[in-house]
Amino acid sequence: MDRLETKIKKLKKEKNAIILAHCYQNIEIDSVADFVGDSLYLSQKAKDTNADIIVFAGVSFMAETAKLLSPTKKVLLPRTESGCFMANMIDVKSLREFKAKHPDIPTVCYINSTAAIKAECDICCTSSNAVDIVKKLNVPKVLFLPDTYLGKWVEKKLENVEVITYNGFCPTHLRILPEDMDFARKTYPTAKILAHPECHTKVSEKADFVGSTKEIMECVKHSVDKEFVIATEKGVLDRLQRDYPDKIFHLIKETIVCQNMKWHTLEDIYYSLKNETYEITLDETTAQKATRCIERMFE
Ligand code: 13P
Ligand code: SF4
Repeated sequence: MDRLETKIKKLKKEKNAIILAHCYQNIEIDSVADFVGDSLYLSQKAKDTNADIIVFAGVSFMAETAKLLSPTKKVLLPRTESGCFMANMIDVKSLREFKAKHPDIPTVCYINSTAAIKAECDICCTSSNAVDIVKKLNVPKVLFLPDTYLGKWVEKKLENVEVITYNGFCPTHLRILPEDMDFARKTYPTAKILAHPECHTKVSEKADFVGSTKEIMECVKHSVDKEFVIATEKGVLDRLQRDYPDKIFHLIKETIVCQNMKWHTLEDIYYSLKNETYEITLDETTAQKATRCIERMFE
């Protein structure tokens, strides 16, 4: 076994630590990770763990969410550079302006948002449960932020709800263009095209299946089809190729890589565990309100 891997595993035991890795992460991190999955799955794992330390190989809002759900644990983000472009597209001032423009409408915030934003919203959701969460609110209108495309996708699925969206987006997913979908369809006529709801609406509507990273992986698992085009971040393709060697996968386009996720290396994980860096700390009042927003999602 690789020396670094051995050292990380030893440190994990000594410090009663776990490593959570998002499925967009560099795939070598899976060899030391306790849980690998989408943002909903990882937040559940953060909530349920008995570990003293959680090392989060993901982007900063995911580590913050882990801290909110496990406030007594030490939560570490190995690289502070790993923010999420979409989460950083909304600040408290613009959120308040958005709410003021549309008063008395419940605010649903995508988990891809900072704790400060969650603290001012009614309920949180992930791409796995966004449709269910909005449906269960049972209201005619919701404000949805920051991702305009996930919001529009929810609206399309739920016909009777008006989803008023903030104008945030994921630059990685927006690199996928409708013409890329047409090209894939022509080049791989027997392949199923699977897309993430963060993609532009004109892209999602050309897909055979739209779902969160976990739902895309589940779709492949249960499908009798043998060939797929993956219209989301490359980490999903890497794991599918590893887990289903008898199936054929194509990435919609080589540039669909979230650089923010890919900051973390095994070496960073090792130093993070060794030096207990970089610890996530949150203002107490913000944390209390943001936790409420996430807990409502679990309820
Ligand atoms: P998931 O909810 O599918 O994990 O997506 C998170 C994300 O950041 C996608 O870009
Ligand atoms: Fe954020 Fe997009 Fe990266 Fe997901 S893929 S973490 S939304 S920048």
